[in-house]
Amino acid sequence: DASPAANHDNFLHCLSTSPAANVSKIVFYTPANPSYPSVLQFSIHNLRFNTSAAPKPIVIVTPQTTSHIQAAISCSHKHRLHLRVRGGGHDYEGLSYVASRPFFILDLINLSSVKVDVAARTAWIQAGGTIGELYYQIGTQTTTLAFPAGVCPTVGVGGHFSGGGYGLSLRKFGLAADHIVDAHLVDVKGKVHNRASMGEDLFWAIRGGGGNTFGVVTAWKVNLLPVPENVTVFTVTKTIQQNATGIINRWQQVADRFPDDLFIRVILDRTETTTNSTATGRASFNSLYLGQAQSLLPLLQRDFPELGVEREDLIELTWIRSILYFAGYPTDSPLEVLRSQVPLTRKRNFKAKSDYVTEPMSERALEGIWRRILRPDIEDPELIFSPYGGRMSEIPESSIPFPHRAGTRYKIQHLVYWEREGREATDRHVDWIRELYGYLAPHVSKNPRLAYVNYRDLDVGSNNGAGFTSHEEARVWGVKYFKGNYERLVRVKTAVDPRNFFRNEQSVPPLTAWK
Ligand code: FDA
Repeated sequence: DASPAANHDNFLHCLSTSPAANVSKIVFYTPANPSYPSVLQFSIHNLRFNTSAAPKPIVIVTPQTTSHIQAAISCSHKHRLHLRVRGGGHDYEGLSYVASRPFFILDLINLSSVKVDVAARTAWIQAGGTIGELYYQIGTQTTTLAFPAGVCPTVGVGGHFSGGGYGLSLRKFGLAADHIVDAHLVDVKGKVHNRASMGEDLFWAIRGGGGNTFGVVTAWKVNLLPVPENVTVFTVTKTIQQNATGIINRWQQVADRFPDDLFIRVILDRTETTTNSTATGRASFNSLYLGQAQSLLPLLQRDFPELGVEREDLIELTWIRSILYFAGYPTDSPLEVLRSQVPLTRKRNFKAKSDYVTEPMSERALEGIWRRILRPDIEDPELIFSPYGGRMSEIPESSIPFPHRAGTRYKIQHLVYWEREGREATDRHVDWIRELYGYLAPHVSKNPRLAYVNYRDLDVGSNNGAGFTSHEEARVWGVKYFKGNYERLVRVKTAVDPRNFFRNEQSVPPLTAWK
């Protein structure tokens, strides 16, 4: 009997009777289990996919050991139940927990330990761990080592490292994935590999070629990087009335040319004016400097006087406390807050997009962005401009699959959040971001218009969720995320998973995909 219900029962039977289950019980949750909704929702970070209409997994498997992952892969083959791997659940389009065919989630939440070796300057991180846990383990053991991953501590290393992963030390160190030196992976046949046994092609592909494509990563080994005992942070805000547009214009000329110790990003949103409580555009210049205030101040006064930074704007702290600062915590918070898998701010609906900018845009173009941000019927719009240059320009485009290197001035993340429920609100906000994206077309990269795979956006192209997608069809989105690296990713995929077992709406397909 090949009916979905039979597949489902057979799949569960297969899991419970697997040899792995004799060693330690494989824990799974079906909708009949009272914990199912909370286990499912715990790491859904985009409430847009937390609706009753969103397709739900037939079962959520929470492996405690690699042998449980092997059992789940084997049963998935036998009973043709589609698999989605979930790390921290931050996928912008919900691809780790929503699928358009019957599926189960392999949720790595219990595989989350981190081991830091300060003397060797390395760490092993299990793939269900968060970047916050990694930061916590580093920060409680040393003040002079760091790791260049993302800003929000709840982000999972499973997806984050699979797509690149960057934070405020990007200009100094590059991406998280640039510092992966080994990995453990369970392949389509259930075999366990390390770097040596998987080979350099597959090891290259998993460092930025996107998650849920080449196998299940169970752990990453990374190199840690040296930082000074104290670093400096600041946030200076300017409204439109305070010449935000002119200062952003200047920022576009200098931000990717500063010494690589200095990273200043700009967050564009809106705020109420104090005088008559009308909304105005606000630019927040938010910065990490890997050095002391006394050397930063003259540098800013010389190269970016327009921002008007003063000594009292600058805060010196340890690197780990700078992580708290950018995550939005008071900087004297106990470091344990970084371990929390519950985000600091409430979860909301959101839609995001990304762009790469190679030439500064005009003040007029920036004014068009402000007009859109000021639309009162849009709840919470935000654009983040992150400068490149520095180390990012030195790493060759083909070093790992992430290709956005020399020639990139900055990256834009377009974001819109909303709380109002219902179709009308969703459509209004999604339409807004699509219109903004259309508006920006002349001012950003072209042919192809590039994007960042970790800011997943199915608008840039999608595989056929239910059936066959050729590698030619997938090129539409593949070259936007990977440029010339796309072809090599297809070759690796063809070698390691020719039947396209690991797949989603934006996984690189093999040369000849099977249904
Ligand atoms: P999730 O579990 O949803 O996985 C994402 C993808 O990877 C899915 O396709 C999943 O199947 C796959 N996957 C996960 N674990 C895997 C494994 N072990 N093996 C194989 N495939 C696996 N990015 C950034 O670069 N810098 C930043 O500062 C931030 N900040 C940020 C904040 C917030 C609030 C969000 C929601 C997102 C970000 N991101 C980010 C984006 C983030 O890097 C991206 O969403 C990552 O894919 C998230 O990884 P998770 O494991 O949390 O997600």
